[in-house]
Amino acid sequence: MKDNIALIGFMGSGKTTVGKILAKNMDMKFVDIDKKISAEEKMSINDIFDKFGERYFREIEREITLREASGNNTIISTGGGVIIDNYNIKNLKKTSFVVYLNATFDCIENRIKNSRTRPLADEKMHDLYESRKMLYAISCDCIIDIDSESNMYDTASQIKDAYINS
Ligand code: S3P
Repeated sequence: MKDNIALIGFMGSGKTTVGKILAKNMDMKFVDIDKKISAEEKMSINDIFDKFGERYFREIEREITLREASGNNTIISTGGGVIIDNYNIKNLKKTSFVVYLNATFDCIENRIKNSRTRPLADEKMHDLYESRKMLYAISCDCIIDIDSESNMYDTASQIKDAYINS
């Protein structure tokens, strides 16, 4: 069994919420990569994008993903764009069981409608969702389907079962 569980998926798919439930339930640590980036840069994700641009953000995301993947007994909630850099996936896969939270677009739209904290939650979000779907699917060890009816606690239990049986 791998040391960690890494959650990947589009913005608003529930990585952070499910990750916290899972960590509690499995007595594991929890880490949110975006939170770490913000804390390290002493700036919100929005401000990092505004002031330094997406490329800079991706560099920091890469460093912190590598660092956090090197830990153990941890649920790692990644940023939605972690899969665009194959280096991130390679590093996560070495130590972590990678779970894709495959939420429907409707579900995502409802959850992050009017989000002011996500620089990429804009009118082009549907195209981004479509273009990334395949990347998430080929990057993961396991896919958990999520729609508006899904319960976060059930989702956490499904992930736990899949991890234990891995
Ligand atoms: C991004 C998703 C965000 C955050 C940044 C970029 C993306 O994380 O890392 O705004 O490229 O999809 P969440 O998935 O936690 O919203």
